Amino acid sequence: MVKAAVLGASGGIGQPLSLLFAVSGLVDELSLYDVVNTPGVGADLSHINGKAKVTAYLPPNDGLQKTLEGCDIVVIPAGIPRKPGMSRDDLFKINAGIVRDLVTGVAKYCPKAFLLIISNPVNSTVPIAAEVLKQHNVFDPTRLFGVTSLDVVRASTFVAAVVGGSPTEYTVPVIGGHSGETIVPLLSQVSPKVDIPEDQLDALVNRIQFGGDEVVKAKDGLGSATLSMAYAGFKFAKSLIEAAGGKSGIVEPTYVYLSGVPGGEEVKEAVGGLDFFAVPVELGPNGAVKATNPLPQVTDYEKSLLKKCYEGLEGNIKKGVEFITAQGSKL
Ligand SMILES: NC(=O)c1ccc[n+]([C@@H]2O[C@H](COP(=O)([O-])OP(=O)(O)OC[C@H]3O[C@@H](n4cnc5c(N)ncnc54)[C@H](O)[C@@H]3O)[C@@H](O)[C@H]2O)c1
Repeated sequence: MVKAAVLGASGGIGQPLSLLFAVSGLVDELSLYDVVNTPGVGADLSHINGKAKVTAYLPPNDGLQKTLEGCDIVVIPAGIPRKPGMSRDDLFKINAGIVRDLVTGVAKYCPKAFLLIISNPVNSTVPIAAEVLKQHNVFDPTRLFGVTSLDVVRASTFVAAVVGGSPTEYTVPVIGGHSGETIVPLLSQVSPKVDIPEDQLDALVNRIQFGGDEVVKAKDGLGSATLSMAYAGFKFAKSLIEAAGGKSGIVEPTYVYLSGVPGGEEVKEAVGGLDFFAVPVELGPNGAVKATNPLPQVTDYEKSLLKKCYEGLEGNIKKGVEFITAQGSKL
């Protein structure tokens, strides 16, 4: 039996993500939570003749508790998305509190669930989640994941646009964080190997780092990526569920707390002591099994990208941690 919950299920990401779960055949129960409209989304999805039983809750009458009890996997896309001209960091003020409160629920009602954070700024909301779980003495770093899969999905698509072939052919390691210059695609380590013409390298890297802006601009005030994000988030969740079910050899880039994941200390040393960083992580029955370290093979060009990444990430991580530690025992 697998029970999954989507928190923020009525939103632009939440609805298609819930649809993908409902039709996947991977979960037995799908529990939806939002501050608005979950009865409607739940009723709609419940008519699909899939195997998942769909339940839906709003905050009153212990809605969050009922959503989370018995959950094996919780995905959080709750919060506000970007408008044109906003960075992901601009979302911090509102989304930090939303993530704090929802993760408090996870700590209380399903502390052993895999927890996937989509709400931006991921660079800071994952440290917030870790601090909340720590305060409740239930932090297991092998079960907390910042979802950076959309950067990986975009990278394959944009690489194919430059070198030709199908986007499905290319696996691009994207490391670092999930915001602008903290996103570092390792184009020297694409599989199968590709040769990016030197005069197109900067533009390609920039497109991967700031690809989200294309969507924000095209939606013209109506939000950020939702459909591609739902696809990418579901892809990561599916990998986790399959790995938990015994499938071996699954590796996905994800933003993790390095010291708590096997292999993470080596990465931490290589990235100047940062506590959180996205690298390709092997998944297994209990979540993160091994963080791989692609840093020894990076090119000089990638080293210059990484320098900027470290600078940005350091502040983002600190901001998230301090958001919780400054609140002391108020949780
Ligand atoms: N990780 C990524 O790659 C990635 C990509 C795109 C967007 N995002 C982020 O995902 C988040 C959601 O984006 P969206 O486009 O779906 O936004 P949206 O506004 O369409 O949906 C957000 C949903 O969250 C709900 N919500 C707000 N407060 C809540 C609370 N306390 N509890 C439960 N639900 C609550 C809202 O009611 C809404 O239904 C944003 O922070 C956005 O920046 C992340």
